[in-house]
Amino acid sequence: MQAEQVLRQNDVGQFTKPGPRQYPHQWNWDSALIALGLSHFDLERALIEIRSLLSAQWQDGMLPHIVYHDAPSDYFPDPGFWQIESSPNAPPIPTSGITQPPLLTTVIRCLHARHSIPDFVREVYPALLRWQRWLHTARAANGSGLVYIIHPWESGTDDSPRWSQTLASISPQNLTDFRRGDIRHVPAAERPYQDDYERFIYLIEIFRQQGYQPQALRVHSPFLVQDVLFNTLLYRADQDLLALARQLGEPTIEIEEWLERLRANFNAYFWDEARGLYNDYDLRAQRRIEVNTAITFVPLFAGLPNEAQARRLVVEHLENPAEYAPDRDIRYYLTSTSKAEPAWEARRYWRGPVWIILNWLVWQGLRRYGFDHLAETLRQDSLELITRSGFREYYDPRDGSGCGSVAFSWSAALAFELESGTVMPD
Ligand code: DGY
Repeated sequence: MQAEQVLRQNDVGQFTKPGPRQYPHQWNWDSALIALGLSHFDLERALIEIRSLLSAQWQDGMLPHIVYHDAPSDYFPDPGFWQIESSPNAPPIPTSGITQPPLLTTVIRCLHARHSIPDFVREVYPALLRWQRWLHTARAANGSGLVYIIHPWESGTDDSPRWSQTLASISPQNLTDFRRGDIRHVPAAERPYQDDYERFIYLIEIFRQQGYQPQALRVHSPFLVQDVLFNTLLYRADQDLLALARQLGEPTIEIEEWLERLRANFNAYFWDEARGLYNDYDLRAQRRIEVNTAITFVPLFAGLPNEAQARRLVVEHLENPAEYAPDRDIRYYLTSTSKAEPAWEARRYWRGPVWIILNWLVWQGLRRYGFDHLAETLRQDSLELITRSGFREYYDPRDGSGCGSVAFSWSAALAFELESGTVMPD
């Protein structure tokens, strides 16, 4: 199968590149999904992928967003740029100094449910617990149990218009000269704007000056956001960690407390009853970020909305041709930003293109709430995009043409899942 070829082609032994030229190192949440894909034809190799990622865990528990195992590349920021040695917690392997959405525990629980790997679960459980504990402590604010992120790259949806206003309030001072690597292999029109990119880099300069100390970053990072996607995936990861803890006979009280607090506050902080949407919360500006993007549907994946909220999300938004449903111009689900947003663009990164990961998460969420017909449409659209344009990083929702990286690993990995039609255990 072609999906297997893509994963084999991007396999460098110890880890799998998310994209052959655009992303030549190991990325955290990509790697979790890649392991899920690999498990369809080589379970042992899938476990190696996970062990490699965990080998770069920081002393305090953080699991970094990029691990630079070996070979130099033309990727920017290069490992030296991060200066992680300014932190006493940095691991011996070069990594970035920030994290990414926590999908790993959910994937491991799924692998265990499908293949029964109790020894592996026992081996990695302490590292998973430490990472999630780190998120719940180093990134805790306002007693809500919701965690915050400090950089758009931590959201995984880098140039989402949800971040525009916050980024616009940041004025980079004495920014080092740098050369973007991301527009060497992909047209600039499909990548973040230069202004946003400068702020991405400027934030890293602030973090390295602060030695990546969580307390100092809480004070000094101008970007401090409680993100709906990140907290949804953490909630789900906590549920999966709890299931694993029970199977291993490990203590569960701490995890149960995380779940309880997160569940109690998720809807209070993020749900906008007037508009029937989930919004992120900007902790610095102390305001809801009222931008309508497809992230609003992801809480369905973790069972966080009640039935009435789920219905509003679907009826008022997902099926609404002015926002997300296909219309005369748009042929495919699911545009990553509502068409009604002024920032919407068909081919630019997270401003509009279809991403297989979002379709996969929302497909499972819709199944969970019984919207089976619409779920099936998302699944079919995803498979059609792949058949039509190959395993691309994202797709133009108007005609399904491919954008971003070619031979994109997680699109290949998730093709196995979407084709089999099997949702993850909940
Ligand atoms: C990039 O380089 O664009 C990545 O998204 C950062 O993680």
